[in-house]
Amino acid sequence: MASIDEPVRWGILGTAGIAASAFLPALREAGGGVAAAVAGRDLERVKAWAGVNEVVRGVRGYEAVVSDPEIEAVYIPLPNDLHAEWTIAALEAGKAVFCEKPLCTTPEETERVLERAHASAMPLWEAFVFPFHEQMVRVRGSLADGVVGEVREIRSSFHFVLDDSEDIRMLAERSGGSVQDVGCYPVRLARLLFDAEPDLGRTIADAAWAASGVDEELWGALRFPGDRRLVFSCGFRAGEDTATLVLGTSGEIRMTNPFHPEPGDELVVVDGFGTRTEPAAPGGVRSFTPAIRHIHRALRGLEAPRHLAVDDAIGNATAIAAVLSAARARG
Ligand SMILES: NC(=O)c1ccc[n+]([C@@H]2O[C@H](COP(=O)([O-])OP(=O)(O)OC[C@H]3O[C@@H](n4cnc5c(N)ncnc54)[C@H](OP(=O)(O)O)[C@@H]3O)[C@@H](O)[C@H]2O)c1
Repeated sequence: MASIDEPVRWGILGTAGIAASAFLPALREAGGGVAAAVAGRDLERVKAWAGVNEVVRGVRGYEAVVSDPEIEAVYIPLPNDLHAEWTIAALEAGKAVFCEKPLCTTPEETERVLERAHASAMPLWEAFVFPFHEQMVRVRGSLADGVVGEVREIRSSFHFVLDDSEDIRMLAERSGGSVQDVGCYPVRLARLLFDAEPDLGRTIADAAWAASGVDEELWGALRFPGDRRLVFSCGFRAGEDTATLVLGTSGEIRMTNPFHPEPGDELVVVDGFGTRTEPAAPGGVRSFTPAIRHIHRALRGLEAPRHLAVDDAIGNATAIAAVLSAARARG
């Protein structure tokens, strides 16, 4: 094992927008890691991208990073249809993996990847970063303390306008669609806060379909044990919105952005004592930073790994498959 002070050497697969806008700035903010290499399909483009984004080397072909003995952890921000293949390749090459959400787009593929993760004994995280946020720790603590009584309903949305029919999110062959891209967040949130799996036989969903065949907007409800429910909507047609309400028997919690809180986002708790409003992201920490810090500490043996894909990814993939199937059944 590397010494505690040695930075984690990351390799990135693909010159992705999210790697430049979120992962790399957070890696610099987190400390304890270095972006050692990025791989891309085009050598000139990847070299230029590495220069602009302060990655040590740009190399052609994802295999070059996966097989590089100097790389310890691999970040995979490829289109959804490539996550499984490259996650397996990186795990089997002995790397820790931080793969973008959704890890896979079917339960069957998720099972296959998790089996390979288990066999490789390497840690695998699906890049839902919000369970690591201070906001989520506060919300879960308040719910455990019964601050709003028993949670009966979660209402959560994730929308933004996407006006590019060539974007990977709009392409069926890239496993796009709004529920895989953003609807997966309310589902993950409800499973986390209810600490239970939904009764998928009772799933309600409907969608607006793009010409490519992907869901451009999707809305519905998942029923959890005890008649509790998630009511959610997601899509690419409405302005940016991540408003979320956790409704309890004696109060409620409202979050303007439970998923990627920024300065200006708020956490509001309404209980028997009144209404308290707090900043959702105190200190302005970047959304990916707490997760990356955790991965660094876990890889150096300073913390037990938390929120691993093996604990969670199959539940999300199964719920999303049920939601899509319910929406498709409506035509
Ligand atoms: N966790 C989050 O908050 C968050 C936010 C945004 C996106 N994401 C996820 O991150 C992933 C990437 O999203 P993004 O918006 O960053 O996408 P993007 O900018 O389109 O980047 C995807 C990269 O994949 C590579 N690629 C390989 N085959 C490709 C193909 N056939 N078509 C297009 N690109 C291909 C490309 O890099 P090269 O050409 O250099 O190989 C491309 O730059 C998705 O899974 C998405 O769900 C997560």
